[in-house]
Amino acid sequence: MKKIFISLALVLTLFRSYADEGMWLPMLLGQQVYNDMVKRGLKLKPEQLYSINRSSIKDAIIIFGGGCTGEIVSDQGLIFTNHHCGYGAIAAASSTQNNYLQDGFWASDKSKEISSNLSVKFLNRIEDASTKVLSALGESQGAERAQKYSKVMGEIIKEVVGSDEYKDAVVASMFKGNQFFLFVYDVYKDIRLVGNPPESIGKFGGDTDNWEWPRHTGDFSVFRVYMNKEGKPAKYSADNVPLKPKYYLPVSIKGFKDGDYSMIYGYPGGTNRYETSFGVKLATDITSPTLVKLRDMRLKFMFAEMKKSAAVKLQLASNYASIANYWKFFDGETKQLLKFDTYGQKQKVEASFNDWAKGKPAYENIFNDYASSYASWTPYAKHRQYINEGIMGSPLMAYASSWLSVEAMLSNPNVKADDISKAMEAATKSRKAFLADENKKSDQSILASAVAMFYGDVDKSQHPKGFYEDLFKNYNDIDQNPYKLFAADVFANTMAFDDAKWKAFTDKPNIEALKNDPAFNAAKSFIVNYTSTVTPKYAVFMNKTSDLGRLYLKGLFEMNPTKMNSTYPDANFTMRVSYGNIKSYNPKDAVKYDFYCTLSGVASKYVKGDYEFDLPSKFLDLYKAKDFGPYADKKIGDVVVSFITTNDITGGNSGSPVLDANGNLIGLAFDGNYEALSHKITFDSKLNRTICVDVRYVLWCIDKLGGAKHIVDELKLVQ
Ligand code: ARG
Repeated sequence: MKKIFISLALVLTLFRSYADEGMWLPMLLGQQVYNDMVKRGLKLKPEQLYSINRSSIKDAIIIFGGGCTGEIVSDQGLIFTNHHCGYGAIAAASSTQNNYLQDGFWASDKSKEISSNLSVKFLNRIEDASTKVLSALGESQGAERAQKYSKVMGEIIKEVVGSDEYKDAVVASMFKGNQFFLFVYDVYKDIRLVGNPPESIGKFGGDTDNWEWPRHTGDFSVFRVYMNKEGKPAKYSADNVPLKPKYYLPVSIKGFKDGDYSMIYGYPGGTNRYETSFGVKLATDITSPTLVKLRDMRLKFMFAEMKKSAAVKLQLASNYASIANYWKFFDGETKQLLKFDTYGQKQKVEASFNDWAKGKPAYENIFNDYASSYASWTPYAKHRQYINEGIMGSPLMAYASSWLSVEAMLSNPNVKADDISKAMEAATKSRKAFLADENKKSDQSILASAVAMFYGDVDKSQHPKGFYEDLFKNYNDIDQNPYKLFAADVFANTMAFDDAKWKAFTDKPNIEALKNDPAFNAAKSFIVNYTSTVTPKYAVFMNKTSDLGRLYLKGLFEMNPTKMNSTYPDANFTMRVSYGNIKSYNPKDAVKYDFYCTLSGVASKYVKGDYEFDLPSKFLDLYKAKDFGPYADKKIGDVVVSFITTNDITGGNSGSPVLDANGNLIGLAFDGNYEALSHKITFDSKLNRTICVDVRYVLWCIDKLGGAKHIVDELKLVQ
C-alpha cells in the first residue's frame, strides 16, 4: 500500500499544476487554473484574457520575426520587443557610417522609420484538429506515422491558407502526439524599425551577464506594423499606414512590490518536461558538452576578428550573439541537471510507472525499449553534433554543401538546360548572400579546428573514408599543422571566393569544376559519410522514441485521473500564458537576491571602453544629474531597470509582455536565471526566475536617453 502511495505521489508530481509552473494555452484555461490565477492576484475576467468574439489581451501578442514574441502598445501598431530580438534587423539597418547598433537610433517621425525584412504574426483562430489528425494516423507507427502526419498536416494547412501569402497555419502536436491543434495566423510583412538604445544599453553585460541575475540590460527595441490603405496586411510600400490594432496594452508606471501578481503571454519555443532519464543522460554526457566545446572554439575565432574591426563586428555580431546565447545555455543546463540530479529523479518516476505498467502489455516494455533505442543511437550522437556544430559550423562548409544539389542536377542526363541555368542563378544568389556574411579569417580557423577536433573525438570507424588519409598525405610538412595547411588550401583555391572561377563555372556548368573544388570535396566527404552512416540510425531512433513518447504520455494519463486539459502541454511555439509573482530568491545558502536592479547598479558596473560594460556618456550625465523624469520608483528613489518573477517561460518568450493583475504592461521578459537553467526539462519551483526589463527603464531610455518623448506620448500610460 505504502509503495503504491509513494509511486502515485511521484507520478502526480509530474502533473502538478503549481501556479508558478505551467505554460498554459490561453484558450483552454480551465476553471481550476483561472481560479488559481485569481487566488494569486489576477483582477481580470476570463474573456479579457482570451476571447473569440471580442478583443482581448491575446490580440496584442505577436510572433516577432522567426522566434521571438512582441506586443502591440499603441493604437498605431507600435511594437515593443527585446533588443536581442530586433538585433539582426538593427544590424542590417546599420553601416559603419550610421552605426545604429552601436550608437542607438530613434526615428524623429514615422517617415524616418526604417523598413526591415521582418514579419509578424497575429493569432487569428485555433481549432482542435485531434480527431482529423488521429484518424488519418490510425494505428500506424514510426516512419509510416511520420509520413502520414506530414501528409495530413499539409492538407489541413493548405485548406486554410490556400495561396494567401498573408495567412499562415501550423498543426501543433501536444503531449507528444496525443492531441493536435490548428493555429491560424495573419501575417504582416511591413515592419519598420522605430528605435533602439545603443548596444551598450541593449546588450549591457553581454555574455558575462547573459542567463544571470542580477542583471542590468536594457533589452528592448521598438518597431511598428504597417498595413495597406484598405486595412489589409501588405508588403512594404510608402503608402502603407500604421496598423489599427484590435487591442493594445496599457503601460503602467506605477511600480510594484515583492509578491505582486505577474503574468506573461508569449510564444515559448520548446520544453521537454517529459524527457526520460535516458535523454537526460545522453544530453549531460555527450550532446551538450560536445556542442559547448565546438561553439567555444567557433566563438573564440569569431571574437578575435570582431575585436579588430567595427565592420567585422557589424557583419558577425548577430550570428555571434545567437551562437553564444545557446553556448552558455547548454553549459548551464548541464550543470543544473547534474545539481538537481534530474537523471535520478527521472529514474524514480520511471520506476513507479513501470510498477503501474506491470501486466499491461501496451505499457510494460516502454522503458526497456527506450533503453535499447538509446543504446543503438548513443555511439553516433557525438558525430551528429560534430556535423551540425563543428564541420557545418564553418560557414564555407555549410555553403559548399549546398552545391551537392547542383552536382546531382549536373549528373542527371535528363535535366533540361533551362533548369540548370535557373539552378545556377539561384547558386549565384546564395553565393552573394554567403559572401556578405563571410569573414574568411575566422572561418578558415574554424574549419581547421573542426576537422582536427573531429579526427580526435569522433570514433575512427565513423570517419569519412579516405579523407584523413589524403589530408595527412597532402599536407605533410612536419613543421606545420596539417589541418591548418588543409584549410589554407581550401580557402585559397575554392571558387566560392574566386569571381573568375565562379563565372567560368556558371557560364559552363560542369561536374569537373565541382570535383576539383577543395571546399566542395571536403563538405561532400563529411556529408556523404554522415548521410550514409548516421542519418538512417538517427531516423530509426527518432521514429522509435517518438512512438515510445506518445505511448508513455498516454500511459501517464491513464494512470492518473488528471485529464489532458487540466495540465499544460510542453511548449511548442504556440501561444501560452504563465502566471506567478514578482519574487526575490536565495540562489545559494546565505545569499539573497532582491527582486529588482536599479540605474545605480548599472552605473556601478560601468567599465570605460569595455566590450560589455561600457556606457554612453549621456547615460552617465543623466545619472549624475538624477534626471529620472517620471520614471523613478518613488519608494526606491531610483529607476528600476529590471526585475524577476516566478513565471514559467523559455526561449521564444523573449520580448513577451509582463503584465500586472489588471493586464497593464510592466516589463518585457528577456531571460532566465542561471540557477534554474535546467528549466526546459525540469522546472524548479524554488529557484526558477524570469528576468524582465522594467518598462519604466524602457521609457527612460526612449525619453531621457534617446530624446524620443513622442514615442512615449503614443502609449496609454497608467500612473
Ligand atoms: N539569454 C537570452 C535569451 O535567450 C538572450 C540574451 C541575449 N544577450 C546576450 N548577451 N547574448 O532570451
